Amino acid sequence: MSILEVSGLKKTYTTRFGGNKVEALKNVSFGVEEGEYVAIMGESGSGKTTLLNILAALDKPTGGRVCLDGQELNKIKEAQISAFRRDHLGFVFQDFNLLDTFSVEDNIYLPLVLAGRHYTEMRERLTPIAGQLGITEILKKYPYEISGGQKQRVAVARALITGPRLILADEPTGALDSRATDELLGLFNAINHKGQTILMVTHSVKAASHAGRVLFIKDGEVFHQIYRGNSTNEQLYHKVSDTLTLLATGGDRR
Ligand SMILES: Nc1ncnc2c1ncn2[C@@H]1O[C@H](COP(=O)(O)OP(=O)(O)OP(=O)(O)O)[C@@H](O)[C@H]1O
Ligand SMILES: [Mg+2]
Repeated sequence: MSILEVSGLKKTYTTRFGGNKVEALKNVSFGVEEGEYVAIMGESGSGKTTLLNILAALDKPTGGRVCLDGQELNKIKEAQISAFRRDHLGFVFQDFNLLDTFSVEDNIYLPLVLAGRHYTEMRERLTPIAGQLGITEILKKYPYEISGGQKQRVAVARALITGPRLILADEPTGALDSRATDELLGLFNAINHKGQTILMVTHSVKAASHAGRVLFIKDGEVFHQIYRGNSTNEQLYHKVSDTLTLLATGGDRR
């Protein structure tokens, strides 16, 4: 069953002083099946964050349709959107979006607090995730006291803590060194094996080569996609890297 259906999605930004229009998304269509692990790649400015924000109902499209878990997003009432998001989605923001007035731990608990969960349950959920992400030692600190890579892992923990069926991650390894990247990718593999669906925007060929499918966006449209099939991570790595070269050199759609 498909967990996400996107059809003919458009987003045009009009700059504040009128005049200039940016067509961030021109015509994006794709579907994601429940349990898939999909990476999205594309050059800076190609519309990846715009797309994720629309999928999470944090922004509205100019045209087209998004169906999440069988529900058309623009038909969900404004008042129900945040509950819908909280119950279905985990979102990792490109700029982390942590609250400086809350400790690391409270930032991670936030979605569960909003869902009215018990403290004991929150702690039981956090312990394994914090261990896997290597952030156990910093839970009592505040976001302004930790590094960029640590913030990123905290943002990932906050997205995973509710056990969402769909995880939308905007460059979740962008601020991480290679060891932390490997740990995060290991965690994503593990939760995907348990059945959670992942849609991850990334600039990292290595991160993309862990996915089951890689979508490439260029000029606001899906340009190409690669299915893993029986490829190993290494074989997929080479295919992704070849496609990126083609994209950068302006190759024709194939
Ligand atoms: N709020 C906004 N107002 C006007 N233009 C915007 C706005 N947000 C994004 N854009 C423009 O839309 C285009 C797509 O931006 P977007 O942030 O989706 O790119 P991206 O693929 O996520 O890039 P990156 O890899 O650098 O994160 C860019 O040209 C950007 O300048
Ligand atoms: Mg972006």
